[in-house]
Amino acid sequence: MTGTATPPAESAPVLLEVRNLSAHHGQLPAVRDVSLSLRAGETYAVIGANGAGKSTLLRTLAGLHRPSAGTVRLDGVDVTRLSPERRLQAGIALVPEGRRLFPSLSVHENLLVGTYRARPGPFHLARVHDLFPWMAERRNQKAAALSGGEQQAVALCRALLANPRLLLLDELSLGLAPIIVERIYALLPQLLADGLTVLLVEQDVGQALRVATHLHCLLEGSTTLTGTPDELRQEDLEVAYFGGLHLEPVAPGGAGEEA
Ligand SMILES: Nc1ncnc2c1ncn2[C@@H]1O[C@H](COP(=O)(O)OP(=O)(O)O)[C@@H](O)[C@H]1O
Ligand SMILES: [Mg+2]
Repeated sequence: MTGTATPPAESAPVLLEVRNLSAHHGQLPAVRDVSLSLRAGETYAVIGANGAGKSTLLRTLAGLHRPSAGTVRLDGVDVTRLSPERRLQAGIALVPEGRRLFPSLSVHENLLVGTYRARPGPFHLARVHDLFPWMAERRNQKAAALSGGEQQAVALCRALLANPRLLLLDELSLGLAPIIVERIYALLPQLLADGLTVLLVEQDVGQALRVATHLHCLLEGSTTLTGTPDELRQEDLEVAYFGGLHLEPVAPGGAGEEA
């Protein structure tokens, strides 16, 4: 399958190194022995069906969920035991599933949350207003009054204002019209040009293939396939995504029953 994103140079340093990471919800293993490595400048996509463990993986990387085993290293430094705040300061920012804005706060106030103890870097309010001029015009509007796509844009900018090195994006496309999703993802090249590295999760394989330099498929918490878009074959991806279940085609004229 053909990807369109340009991968970083082979010589680019490893920014994120995840080794044998496992995470549970009570007794339930949600992430099982996952290892992955991101080079600086990469757009790495973790794909998988609903319940595959994608959000648990990202939340564990952001420090919001405690792993049951494994290590997370950012730029060679072990951050596995750091709090979410310390990880944010180290340069890991999450755009959570479902945006999680403060609905009763204004657009501006939601953005200010991102500037709290922000790292130095290219993203500041003026830059965000350049990217999305409507955010300046509607700065006093309550977040609850925004459309889903607008809320997603605010959630993304809130994370950018922390000036992360690694941006974790949890299903940006969830519940949004394709045209809105396309517009939000169209920003990625600009963010990469600013030196960011992106780890995104998606249920939508087509969307992941359009933007990612590397794909990593999860099924029930385990890695089933990984590779560049060019290396992966459609048939293998389907099995990796859905499991080995093959449905028999239904015979024409009925549901497989004798007439
Ligand atoms: N807060 C939670 N409490 C209990 N189980 C959870 C919780 N969050 C997720 N799970 C379970 O963990 C598994 C992985 O969920 P999740 O990481 O949300 O997957 P995905 O993001 O790929 O849809 C699922 O079986 C889900 O039901
Ligand atoms: Mg999820």
